[in-house]
Amino acid sequence: MKLADRVNKIQPSPTLSIDAKAKALKAQGIDIVGFGAGEPDFDTPENIKAAGKKAIDGGFTKYMPVGGADDLKDAIIAKMKRDNDLDYSRDEISVACGAKHTLYNISQTLIQEGDEVIIPGPYWVSYPDQIVLAGGTPVFIMTDEVTGFKVTPEQLEQAITPRTRYLILNSPCNPTGSTYLKEELIALGQVLLKHPHVMVVADDIYEKLIYDGITFYNIAQVVPELKPRTIVVNGVSKAYAMTGWRIGWACGPKEIMGAMTKMQSQSTSNATSIAQKASVEALNGSQEALPPMVAEFEKRRTYIVDRLNAIPGVTCFRSNGAFYAFPNFSGIYGKSTPKGKKIENSSDLAAYLLEDANVALVPGIAFGDDRYARLSYAISLETIKKGVDRIEEAIKNLK
Ligand SMILES: Cc1ncc(COP(=O)(O)O)c(C=O)c1O
Repeated sequence: MKLADRVNKIQPSPTLSIDAKAKALKAQGIDIVGFGAGEPDFDTPENIKAAGKKAIDGGFTKYMPVGGADDLKDAIIAKMKRDNDLDYSRDEISVACGAKHTLYNISQTLIQEGDEVIIPGPYWVSYPDQIVLAGGTPVFIMTDEVTGFKVTPEQLEQAITPRTRYLILNSPCNPTGSTYLKEELIALGQVLLKHPHVMVVADDIYEKLIYDGITFYNIAQVVPELKPRTIVVNGVSKAYAMTGWRIGWACGPKEIMGAMTKMQSQSTSNATSIAQKASVEALNGSQEALPPMVAEFEKRRTYIVDRLNAIPGVTCFRSNGAFYAFPNFSGIYGKSTPKGKKIENSSDLAAYLLEDANVALVPGIAFGDDRYARLSYAISLETIKKGVDRIEEAIKNLK
């Protein structure tokens, strides 16, 4: 079958496929501990579900304005002011079917053939492929535990060229959980101010999931001169356990939001009407459901990081956000499994743990660094304990 070249330039999302593999094994009755999930294990809060049901019963089931309903845009405007101290108007917002779709619209709207996009790594799997699909070239700035998985101003300066179109800043980060502090954003902002042709795409999807009492900041909030060239991406998926509802949005310059909406008018049209109503409730309604979810994630984060660090040959950075642990397993590379297979990289490790220990995790190579693996702690503490026990045992059995 002849397919377009662009299909062969990209990979299927590795995180989604590992999660699917673990679910398939579970469906066969195998007791798999799945650390692959990229979504909260909590249910969507009741008030939000009720708003969705009310929208259906009220006949709110028709086509909508492509870039989002006015009441949702108003709820986003209020949220951006309340949480981020950023002012936007309705024409500076574009609502899409999730933050992933929003980021896709941005790449299709801004990137010309040969443009470069700077991606700090380890990075979320979809960034490079979306950029390649748009004809751009991903330029990676790799980070590790030494800088808390954060890009330094010097690294950023070095990566910028005349072809740089934008920088993606994802804080808290998937897969590392790393969260930039105010001073760190200001330092990166000083570099960006010297390069007026570089835009910033701030992916704030994990904004609400931060721990240890730190405060979330967006770069446009702390370096206001950057606001005219910053696009803020956010959505309801992670904060409100609404991954299946598919609502995300961008806030930024009017001309770009209009162009993104034009692009979307020829693909998905509007995001689902019912989900938009539920998202209005998520943003405007009671926020009571959030603190218990965040507290539970923090408890799990502390547990999993401590347990992983206690395994000889494994080190795990204690990050302040999202719901992923990103341990470094390179200390066990070179050892052999009881069946005599040498573990040389993160894919070998993931295969060994899945086959011999019934544990699914995502190899770090999917995020650009083979030394690591990603474990989502969006599963119960009990399941985390069972999974880490198995990992510990499996690693002990290596020779
Ligand atoms: C960093 C990051 N950005 C964006 C998304 C997409 O979120 P959604 O499309 O569900 O809004 C994800 C989901 O895993 C993510 O991890």
